[in-house]
Amino acid sequence: MTNRGHLIVFEGVEGAGKSTHLQRAAAALRARGRAVVETAEPGGTPLGKRLRALLMDANNAAPTPWTELFLYLADRAEHVATFLQPALARGELVLCDRFSPSTLAYQGYGRGLDLHVVRQLDEVARQGLQPDLVILLDCPVELGLERAGRNDRFHRESLAFHERVRAGFLALASEAPNQFVVIDTRAPADRVHAQILAAVDRCLALD
Ligand code: TMP
Repeated sequence: MTNRGHLIVFEGVEGAGKSTHLQRAAAALRARGRAVVETAEPGGTPLGKRLRALLMDANNAAPTPWTELFLYLADRAEHVATFLQPALARGELVLCDRFSPSTLAYQGYGRGLDLHVVRQLDEVARQGLQPDLVILLDCPVELGLERAGRNDRFHRESLAFHERVRAGFLALASEAPNQFVVIDTRAPADRVHAQILAAVDRCLALD
C-alpha cells in the first residue's frame, strides 16, 4: 500500500480535549512550516457528514448496536478510500479526530459487541490502513462529560457506558504501546500540548 505520508489519530472519551488539542497541534506544526491536513470521523467526507447527522441526532431512535457499527464503518470506508489514502499517497501529514480505536472502544467495549468481529469488520472498512500514531487523551469520564457539555445521543449514555469506553481505550493502548501514547488531560493545557508535539516529533523522526 502506498503510504508515504503520516496518519496521526487523536482519541479519547467525550470532552477529553481531542478537537481542541488537534487544532492547536495543527497550528503549531503549520507555524513550523509543515503542511497539515485536519479531518475527523464520523463526518470527514460529504457522505460522512450525512451519516454523522444520523448518528448524533438525539431525536432519532437508537439504532441497534450492529446497525450503529455498520454506520460508523460506512463512514470509515468512504473516508479511507476517498480522503485518507489519497492524502497519504500525496505524502501529507494527516491529523484525524477519531478512527478505528473509537469503534473498538465504543461499539466493542462500550456496546459489548464481539471484539474479534468488530476488529475484522473494521479492518475491511479501513482497507488495512493503520495510524502511524494514536494520541489517546485520557481523563476521568465525569470530568470529560462536564467539559463537553453536549446533549447528543452519546452524551445521554450512562456513566457505566463511558467508563467501559475509557477502559477500552486504555486496554487498546496497553496492547499496542508502540502505536499509542497516553496523555492525561487533567494536566495544564500547555503541558498536554507540549507532550502531543513531542509525540508527533518522535513519530515523524522514525522515518
Ligand atoms: P465526536 O467526534 O464529536 O467526539 O463525536 C463522535 C461520537 O461518535 C462520539 O460520541 C464517539 C462516537 N463514535 C463511535 O461510537 N464509534 C466510532 O467509530 C467513532 C468514530 C465515533
